[in-house]
Amino acid sequence: MSSFLVPPGGPYLLTHSVGCLPRVAREALDVNFLRPWADRGGNAWPDWLKQVDEFRFALAQLFGGTPAEYCPQSNLSSGLSKLLLALPDSHVGKQVLLAAEDSFPSLGFVLQKAGRQGLETRLIPRARVPDDIDTWSQALTADVRVALVTHVHSNTGRVAPVEAIARLCQERGILCVVDVAQSAGILPLRFPALGADVVLGSCIKWLCGGPGAGFLWIRSGLIEDLQPVDVGWFSHEDPFEMDIHSFRYAPDARRFWGGTPSVAPCVIAAASLRHLHTLGVEAIHAHNRRLIGTFKEALPPAWRARLPAWPIGGTLCISLGGEFDPVTRSLEQSGAQFDSRGDVIRVSFHACNTEDDALRVARAWPGDR
Ligand SMILES: Cc1ncc(COP(=O)(O)O)c(C=O)c1O
Repeated sequence: MSSFLVPPGGPYLLTHSVGCLPRVAREALDVNFLRPWADRGGNAWPDWLKQVDEFRFALAQLFGGTPAEYCPQSNLSSGLSKLLLALPDSHVGKQVLLAAEDSFPSLGFVLQKAGRQGLETRLIPRARVPDDIDTWSQALTADVRVALVTHVHSNTGRVAPVEAIARLCQERGILCVVDVAQSAGILPLRFPALGADVVLGSCIKWLCGGPGAGFLWIRSGLIEDLQPVDVGWFSHEDPFEMDIHSFRYAPDARRFWGGTPSVAPCVIAAASLRHLHTLGVEAIHAHNRRLIGTFKEALPPAWRARLPAWPIGGTLCISLGGEFDPVTRSLEQSGAQFDSRGDVIRVSFHACNTEDDALRVARAWPGDR
């Protein structure tokens, strides 16, 4: 029996959108969130806050660093907004926020709104491939203050050379922020080793933790320099002090938290993260590569040559061009659960998938064999 609740139908290939629910996470929601609420009402808070601590602990276990460097967020966009508003004022001549045009649009919208802070967004054109270090080196000019690097791009699967970009940023005094929405849980990853200043992520995709459990990791040496504006009592050094005349930032990443925290997403995600830790991200990655191999082997030969030739995260993004309709029709008839962006279809194999899934999708693909 799979340790995941896999939606019924054909092969589930949508982890790049929403990862399957682990059975243990469903139980955890009941045991660690709903039951304390039903049994103790307002007195459930100590149990609930312990669960948020568990979430931070599970993130540190999976991605390195200490729980103090992690702060829950509802999603990446809101984490990025808070981060930009928390930057110190004094950076004369460094007003550019740099990102690739292929970044997730939601984060691009946040960058553009920072125009109100006197910051200007510059996008590396799509035509200049964002996984090329020379492209980044040319783009990281003296006027860049923050570089937002998407680790794995959601519509191409391309992997950016994060460590090399982070090194350039460090040499040039640029704050390096990495989006791991599409890499966390599928590429083995330790945040402190990336060399970045801030990592933004969420648990909805390869971490199988559902919506609402976003997070911010901040390099510990940097935390003191950041002063978020969007705060609340849980950003305070002592949330229960309750003195309206005295706000002091929490000494750790919790300063990015805010008002009354949302708990249920953290409960679900903490259980999912523990489950992934038990399975092992290296093992999940190897499983993904095995299933991709099986899929390729079983595809009509003419299509094998059309698969991405660049390093990818977990998702195969396949451009169908003029054959979009026949291919998607045939896959739909087979019951496969996938999606598309323009003429590109996205196929993701995760721990919930089997060799049989990979064979079924490939065999449903129209073409000469
Ligand atoms: C690369 C990437 N970044 C970010 C997001 C989501 O951002 P947010 O959590 O702000 O909705 C996605 C979602 O598909 C994504 O693929």
